[in-house]
Amino acid sequence: MDEQFAGKTAVVTGGGSGIGEAVALALAAEGASVVVNDLRLESAQAVVDKIIAAGGKETAVAGDVGNPVDVKAAVDAAVSEYGALNLAFNNAGIASPNGLLADIDIEGYRRLMT
Ligand SMILES: NC(=O)c1ccc[n+]([C@@H]2O[C@H](COP(=O)([O-])OP(=O)(O)OC[C@H]3O[C@@H](n4cnc5c(N)ncnc54)[C@H](O)[C@@H]3O)[C@@H](O)[C@H]2O)c1
Repeated sequence: MDEQFAGKTAVVTGGGSGIGEAVALALAAEGASVVVNDLRLESAQAVVDKIIAAGGKETAVAGDVGNPVDVKAAVDAAVSEYGALNLAFNNAGIASPNGLLADIDIEGYRRLMT
């Protein structure tokens, strides 16, 4: 496989499962160093463990993308571990609750929008 991301560093938010996990694995397979963010550290760490077992470089960070302090921690991890941040896959998110927007309570709305 071509290593089109060799020497590049990526942050994947919500990288502990689903689409984020698949993208983190694909980026690492293409040579990138990947910082895997997820609300659940154990999920992020499990993805990191898969990449390391395959010979790649990854770092897991726990964090809520709705919290600027956690987002900065992910960017800082990229810069301190690998020297730069070249690519961000801003994937973390939740499905919208079923029903009309007008029926969503304000806390649910805030959670959805962050
Ligand atoms: N799968 C689909 O069909 C589909 C369709 C449209 C949009 N999406 C969007 O694509 C993204 C990924 O979807 P998926 O199906 O892989 O979801 P998923 O639930 O499998 O994975 C989402 C991951 O993001 C993490 N996460 C959730 N909120 C977070 C937060 N605030 N901070 C950090 N991590 C957080 C979760 O812990 C989880 O590991 C989501 O934003 C989803 O809304 C998915």
